[in-house]
Amino acid sequence: MCHISHLLAGLLLLLIPAYLDGARILIVLPLPLWSHYQQFQPLWETLAQRGHQVTVYNAFPPTKPIPNFKHVNFTMAKSKEFFDSLNHFEFKEQVDSKGHELIEFWYRFRTQRLLFNFGLFLSKEIFADPTFQALLQSNDKYDLIITENYFGQESLTVLGHKFKAPIIAETSYGTPHNCYLFMGNPNLYSYMPDYKFTYSSRMNFIQRLQNTALGVFTHIVGDFWYFPQQDEIMRQFSKPSDNLPYIKTMMQNISATFIYSDPILEFQRPQVSNLIHVGGIHLKEDKLPKDLEDIMTNSPGGVIYVSFGSIIQAGKMSLGMKKQLVDAFTKIGLTVLWRWKGGPLENVPKNIILRSWFPQQAVLAHPNCRLFISHGGINSVLEAIHYAVPMVGISFYGDQPSNIKHMVDLGSAVELDYHNLTEKSVVWAASTILNNRR
Ligand SMILES: *[C@@H]1O[C@H](CO)[C@@H](O)[C@H](O)[C@H]1NC(C)=O
Ligand SMILES: *[C@@H]1O[C@H](CO)[C@@H](O)[C@H](O)[C@H]1NC(C)=O
Ligand SMILES: *[C@@H]1O[C@H](CO)[C@@H](O)[C@H](O)[C@H]1NC(C)=O
Repeated sequence: MCHISHLLAGLLLLLIPAYLDGARILIVLPLPLWSHYQQFQPLWETLAQRGHQVTVYNAFPPTKPIPNFKHVNFTMAKSKEFFDSLNHFEFKEQVDSKGHELIEFWYRFRTQRLLFNFGLFLSKEIFADPTFQALLQSNDKYDLIITENYFGQESLTVLGHKFKAPIIAETSYGTPHNCYLFMGNPNLYSYMPDYKFTYSSRMNFIQRLQNTALGVFTHIVGDFWYFPQQDEIMRQFSKPSDNLPYIKTMMQNISATFIYSDPILEFQRPQVSNLIHVGGIHLKEDKLPKDLEDIMTNSPGGVIYVSFGSIIQAGKMSLGMKKQLVDAFTKIGLTVLWRWKGGPLENVPKNIILRSWFPQQAVLAHPNCRLFISHGGINSVLEAIHYAVPMVGISFYGDQPSNIKHMVDLGSAVELDYHNLTEKSVVWAASTILNNRR
């Protein structure tokens, strides 16, 4: 009996460190974009499975209960509506360069400007939310804060100050300008092109000039217009006794940044050791549902998978563009699985299967998937590399053009200019890949 109680006491002592080891981790990701959350989801869930107390504030509850994982419903209705109502095809036309090559930086700055404007909009909504105010006023204790600061949520650094905890930032689309800035990483305009350009690291004089102009311009607008406003948003719920430092000081205090990309999709450059690439952690083979499995297996010529991601809705493209694509797919004749949302498509030919959602990784993993027509979002690009499916890339904005450019350089994609989308060009691009026996 005595032995057993000793044994039990010993076992209990052994168990204690397991509890003490667990950190209390607060993850605040209010951006209502599934693609941004989906990437990092496995990380949060694994932390919880390993005994850390994980609290997540966002709009995406886990589908099944996870031990140690607390989800707080934090829904940014106005920001979601903003994204849902955006017509990415019209936006693409707006941000594209129509001017002289020399002022192309200005057209790239339009994307940055949209991000700045959206950042203020989102931050205001976050701080006006009672759930967030309750968090700011709570006496909860956290050991680590994780946020997506560089996507218009700089004001969330206030959480690090409030809970006296280090912050890890995450970025969902490569390394934005502000990330270099705040991590103290060199950002050398001479050979580090901004992700919004498709330039290589060997830029000519005009390209270097544009890259510099974009960088300097982003800096100035940030310093004199954007950060003062973010600071004000953050400051409205603080007392003078909180001694809140200026927002840029707090951003410089971020302990590490997880970058959702892979060095294979970037050029050589210096990198501080707390900028950490984690691209690809979301890769996980799903199972194909029976009906799709049958369709894919019974398409001996192969299957073309078409998706412009979770944000860009194919249904919103112009009638003309729909027709060109449908005519091209009819001509190619292979089975086409097309992720389709946001509007009607009339007279759908038999070989085209439209669905609002596909288990993308399972589709790409199927041996009959021969071509992926994509917008070049980072998740899709990493999946195409992982499942070895060549791409036809039709990029829209942001990091997509440079992701596609890297894929073309790697010999894994053919690029199709959005403004060159005709039946002829789509057939040309698809056959370039389908006829390549490599
Ligand atoms: C989360 O909150 C939003 C807005 O407050 C609400 O519409 C939605 O139903 C909530 N979801 C859940 C799962 O409680
Ligand atoms: C910087 O972060 C540390 C935690 O990593 C925190 O203790 C410190 O107060 C922060 N400093 C400022 C100025 O926010
Ligand atoms: C446009 O399409 C044609 C084929 O129709 C192709 O030869 C050409 O390279 C394409 N140009 C761009 C910029 O994609």
